Amino acid sequence: MADIQVNLCGRALKAPFILGSGPLSYSGASLVAACEAGAGAAVTKTLRARPADNPFPHMVAAGPGTIINGEKWADLTAEQWINEEIPYAKARGAVVIASVGHTPEEARELVEPVARAGADFIELVSYREDTMVPMLEETKKRVNIPVLAKMSPNWPDLPGAAGRFLAAGADALTVADSYGPVLRLDIRTARPVLGSPYGFGWLTGAALKPITLRCVAEVALAHKAAIVGLGGVGNAEDAVEMLLAGATAIGVCTAAINKGVKIFGELNRKLAALLDELGYPSVAAASGRALSHLRAGEQKEKLVFQYDPGKCNRCLLCVTRCPYGARTLREDKVMGLDEGQCRSCGYCVSLCRQGALTSNYLAGPV
Ligand SMILES: Cc1cc2nc3c(=O)[nH]c(=O)nc-3n(C[C@H](O)[C@H](O)[C@H](O)COP(=O)(O)O)c2cc1C
Repeated sequence: MADIQVNLCGRALKAPFILGSGPLSYSGASLVAACEAGAGAAVTKTLRARPADNPFPHMVAAGPGTIINGEKWADLTAEQWINEEIPYAKARGAVVIASVGHTPEEARELVEPVARAGADFIELVSYREDTMVPMLEETKKRVNIPVLAKMSPNWPDLPGAAGRFLAAGADALTVADSYGPVLRLDIRTARPVLGSPYGFGWLTGAALKPITLRCVAEVALAHKAAIVGLGGVGNAEDAVEMLLAGATAIGVCTAAINKGVKIFGELNRKLAALLDELGYPSVAAASGRALSHLRAGEQKEKLVFQYDPGKCNRCLLCVTRCPYGARTLREDKVMGLDEGQCRSCGYCVSLCRQGALTSNYLAGPV
């Protein structure tokens, strides 16, 4: 079986999956539950100088595997986290990443007590990119444990920001965070579905994955840094994609909310099996393997299709969804293509769940 242990900033984690900061990390007991279920580490809700007072409602389902939230930071006091919750989680074997936000003043106040309480790592988080460097400076002169800087997908120049954070002493980067702000409305009442200002919230989960992958790849292409890829991972296939894009370890928040912390055990088992199937001996071996294929130039070689009637179940998606009406599929599984109409867009191959239709670009469904 592939080796799923990872090394994050010199610390061995038994598994690559990390519970991201969120509602499942509201207390020390919740961190223990995630680690006992198989997470390699768990991030606390974000500690701030004052506990959060959340609007109602502040979480709404928003499509398959996707959530929009207006939830703030920890609703327990920082004192409680430092005196009770972190020591509780540490005493029960959890690997604790203490999330500290959102200003340099709060970093100055909180990072030392958090480290003394036993946190294994600190993750700094801010809504604003320009506060991260001063937060790192305040933190790095006060603690010796590894420090992660959490980056937002909303920031315009992630490679540039990552360079500044690494120069200011970040030991690793968490890439990325929720995307937004975004909005959903209740069509029956014409009201926003969240109670936050203007009803605006933050998008997480499945819909976020392609954004996160782009962010991770952008940072990994520019810097040789340890990266926790966080955003949109819900299964082993997503996890492999995140590794290939350059992640060292993989954060999971929304999928754990939707499926419970038992997802961590399942992810560990399925990732090990999938890495085996794909020929990677370890998580580390898969990390960054897509980067040499990400090139600035466009691909111009037209698609060459292969069709295996033995795998085809005649679902006809390739025919009905071709925007140009270029495909036909006879009852006896003879595939036709009108070369004059086909634009080599590739959509048909991506729709084929059976892997019957493949091409020189795509070896199976995505
Ligand atoms: C309800 C909710 C609350 C969250 N609270 C925090 C938080 O307090 N601090 C933080 O850094 N990230 C917070 N996040 C963001 C997650 O840590 C993570 O970056 C984001 O959800 C993307 O990962 P996912 O797609 O696996 O959920 C929260 C996410 C959700 C869904």
